Amino acid sequence: MDLVIYPDPVLRKRASPLPEVDPALEEKIREMFEILYREKGVGLAAPQVGWSVRLFVVNTSGEPNPELERVYINPEITEASGEILEEEGCLSIPGVRGRVARYEQVRVKALDLQGQPIDERVTDLHARVIQHELDHLDGILFVSRLGTTERMRAAKTLKQLEKEFKQRTGLRA
Ligand code: NI
Repeated sequence: MDLVIYPDPVLRKRASPLPEVDPALEEKIREMFEILYREKGVGLAAPQVGWSVRLFVVNTSGEPNPELERVYINPEITEASGEILEEEGCLSIPGVRGRVARYEQVRVKALDLQGQPIDERVTDLHARVIQHELDHLDGILFVSRLGTTERMRAAKTLKQLEKEFKQRTGLRA
């Protein structure tokens, strides 16, 4: 399992719901957390490791502490309010950061790794990460939510990543 980098097409695909939560997921999710900590992120969606299913992991502390790890399976946002503009980045788009408007608070429903329902209201960074990761499950990258100026600023780095992807895979994104 490896971190997938822009413009890999899996990042643009809508991920499929997981039909069931079974113990076999545990090992893959462990690996996702390892990648998250290695890359010093706060959230990672399954498509970012080439696994096109509706699942993401979050640890807003960035510290490798199992007690702070959250797994969201088949998540949906059922309520949202407020708006806040803050800087974001994405492990799959190295070198690009920019401000994205997100809801300040969201209510999220999902299943956890034990298959138990999650229904929680979250705010601030946690709410932002959930919206960013949920976008990944719909094939949406944060760069497409940037304002015009920041999107133009990002364009050069994106071009470079596209070039590197082509060299690495022989594919044109
Ligand atoms: Ni991301």
